[in-house]
Amino acid sequence: MAIEVFAPAKINLTLHVTGQRPDGYHLLESLVVFADIGDQLRVSKSDEMQITVDGPFAQGVPTDQRNLCWRAAELFGETVSIHLTKNLPHAAGIGGGSSDAAAVLNAMEQLFEWPCSASALSLGADVPVCQRGRATLMSGIGETLSETDIRPLDAVLVNPRVDVPTPQVFKGLTTKNNPAMTPMPAPDQNHALWHWLADQRNDLQAPAVAAQPIIAEVLATLASLNPQIARMSGSGATCFALFETRTQRDAAAQTLKQRNPEWWVEPTTLT
Ligand code: C5P
Repeated sequence: MAIEVFAPAKINLTLHVTGQRPDGYHLLESLVVFADIGDQLRVSKSDEMQITVDGPFAQGVPTDQRNLCWRAAELFGETVSIHLTKNLPHAAGIGGGSSDAAAVLNAMEQLFEWPCSASALSLGADVPVCQRGRATLMSGIGETLSETDIRPLDAVLVNPRVDVPTPQVFKGLTTKNNPAMTPMPAPDQNHALWHWLADQRNDLQAPAVAAQPIIAEVLATLASLNPQIARMSGSGATCFALFETRTQRDAAAQTLKQRNPEWWVEPTTLT
């Protein structure tokens, strides 16, 4: 029996760094949502661990212990065969590896019919939220999760095809004790949501731009298309722009693809 699972792209609509723990990990507050695009995995029981990869971003994806999917299976404690169709760019701030690992854990829970007894957080700060795959307010280093309601949002994701190493971006933070997020408006208050989002931040944006200045160019290009909001996700380099309507979103994606054919541009719905 094989289980097919979808590993959606994870987007941090906000990401506030509010402190640092003695072990060096940063305290975060983030509104996390998920896209309708992502990687696809097929997981089946096997006598030995095996990972095969195809898809547009397969190149360079490790097929051994370095792959977070492999470590997820080890954490679960059983051997499986995993086929991964890699549609998302890696080291991109949209949870590629974390979402794949979360999908493996979810698939193995179905396959073996028992829950994973170890903490998914040990695989990475974003793995627990990716296991949920729906709009969540995340805090701590990623272990405190509370479900939230948000209406579907029309977005364009853009990655300028540069890798951004997460530890380097955290190291580049000039202040660790930034203001917390303010309370989210009710889900039916459309305009309140835009105002609220505009007032929040991604504190990793400035150090990511310092590491990869092309991110500033992506953000400026997105801002020129009149979105409700344009911001970076996670530790970058992927940025998103949110639009009032699907027509505006699709027109913006079309323009971006024409102007910057070397960038990864994907229109999507976030939930
Ligand atoms: O947990 P994850 O693998 O996503 O984290 C990658 C790196 O990002 C960590 O090794 C750490 O340097 C940094 N990080 C952090 N604080 C967090 C999450 C990640 O400093 N809350």
